[in-house]
Amino acid sequence: MTGNDPADETEVSPDRHSHASGEDWRVADGDESSDGDRVAEPLRTDGGTDAADGGETTLDPWGSATVADYRKLFEEFGIEEFDEVLPEVPDPHYLMRRGVIFGHRDYRRVVDAMVNDDPFAALSGFMPTGDPHIGHKLVFDEIIWHQQQGGDAYALIADLEAHSARGMTWDEIDEHARDYLLSLLALGFDPEEGTLYRQSGDREVQDLAFELGSQTNFSELQAIYDFDGETDVSHMQSVVTQMADILYPQLDEPKPTVIPVGPDQDPHMRLVRDLAARMGYFGVTKAYASFEADEDEHQYLQLAYEGRAEYAENPDQPRCEEAAEWLEEGRANVGGGDKALKTVLRKLENAGMEPLRPRTRFLDRNATEEAFEALIDAVEGDKRVFDEHIDSFDLSREAAEQLAREVELDHGGYGFTAPSSIYHRFMTGLTGGKMSSSVPASHISLLDDPEDGYDKVKAATTGGRETAEKQRELGGKADECPVYELYAYLLAGDDDEFAKEVYDECVGGERLCGDCKEQAAQLMREFLEDHQEKREEVEDLLEAADIELDSPRKRD
Ligand code: TRP
Ligand code: SF4
Repeated sequence: MTGNDPADETEVSPDRHSHASGEDWRVADGDESSDGDRVAEPLRTDGGTDAADGGETTLDPWGSATVADYRKLFEEFGIEEFDEVLPEVPDPHYLMRRGVIFGHRDYRRVVDAMVNDDPFAALSGFMPTGDPHIGHKLVFDEIIWHQQQGGDAYALIADLEAHSARGMTWDEIDEHARDYLLSLLALGFDPEEGTLYRQSGDREVQDLAFELGSQTNFSELQAIYDFDGETDVSHMQSVVTQMADILYPQLDEPKPTVIPVGPDQDPHMRLVRDLAARMGYFGVTKAYASFEADEDEHQYLQLAYEGRAEYAENPDQPRCEEAAEWLEEGRANVGGGDKALKTVLRKLENAGMEPLRPRTRFLDRNATEEAFEALIDAVEGDKRVFDEHIDSFDLSREAAEQLAREVELDHGGYGFTAPSSIYHRFMTGLTGGKMSSSVPASHISLLDDPEDGYDKVKAATTGGRETAEKQRELGGKADECPVYELYAYLLAGDDDEFAKEVYDECVGGERLCGDCKEQAAQLMREFLEDHQEKREEVEDLLEAADIELDSPRKRD
């Protein structure tokens, strides 16, 4: 690990007493400076149990997504840290407070809408491939919380995806779909305020998927999802269907939308955010002259524009060719062999006497002729009109984007704005390793008999020491304990004091695993009893809800 002196680690005491306060009770947050037990494994930094997977971080929506190090998701994939927006979130959910929701893309826009009482939406989807379990509960809770904060809430059954990517029959799908929906309603989703649908039963989603498909090609899916010549067409169709799901809340009007998911779904988020822009009538970029430039080239253009007083005959009107000459002279200072410098020099030379002048550019992407004409009229102030773009010298980028969206909406376009996402941690399996639907002992189904739930918790792996004596002396390893996770993710509910108490008592050596598991097991039993009772109570609510429970695609 670069920049990490192993000598630092040997100084860390394995005695957790000194860490029994502050923010440590939040779930392991990728900053495990306090863990002296990992001296031999300096690469494992997230407190996860995935090291057996080779420590690699892969985000595969249909494969085994593994996150060896949540920090990598920030550095490598550009996911942002949730803690940065947390202080702005009104009355944050406990999953946010406890660091279970650890990352986001562009969530601030949704928070702003929440704070300002502007419209916003939350949507997530569920593949009905098995029983809903406590991992799904996280996402149910996230949707419900956003609904309670005033958002338009959507939950969908990804039956097309389950059928195409997982080979589920329509019979199996119907059975599981019903179970997901009952749990969602039992946990508090309001079906009268919110929207439920299944992919196969929603014509609007399918039409939108078709439109989105015309902006997506095979090479792109290949690059993002590793698809190849053997990938079946329905699987690809399920991708554009998910893109349509995510944009669905914006069909009435564009609005900030949050998609709560696990980080394995991030490839979908990257694609949909891009597609939202690609579908637009107009793209808004910046430019300095009539030619286009990429981001690296823009840095040189900006440099040249700012330095205009040094070289321009008339500093109010620096010429492109003057800028080229000046950049060329300064080449050594700005990093000689840079490719962007070379290309930008060529562009500036070709532009010759054209003045260098910053501007906001509207590109015609998918606009109708009428819409393009309307935009020309709508751009106020100093502007220049070209065949396929309009340059404005007065409008800021934000103002331009808003104007472009308005014109698009007036002329029959969607006007999509890029959706946001929030990401929660994967729960550790009760048996250690990953929580997996195919290993019943590793997870707790929301349909498990409460006694079985009790037993599973009692049998769970812990972060305890070999002996009670050692535990009293050194404290337990709550950060590596699936039972502590159960408290933090579910059993402690909204009660932070309780979660913190369990943590502090554990790492302080006052709590022993036997009692701790007994308490957790009882709470789990109560939770399951209560949840299953509520499921029965909401049966009627589900029957009355606007969603097809019996797939017409079934054959008998
Ligand atoms: N692909 C998701 C999964 O594997 C399910 C899904 C379908 C979804 N459409 C969605 C998730 C839209 C979030 C948003 O479970
Ligand atoms: Fe886990 Fe509880 Fe044991 Fe601590 S005391 S290691 S939280 S089971």
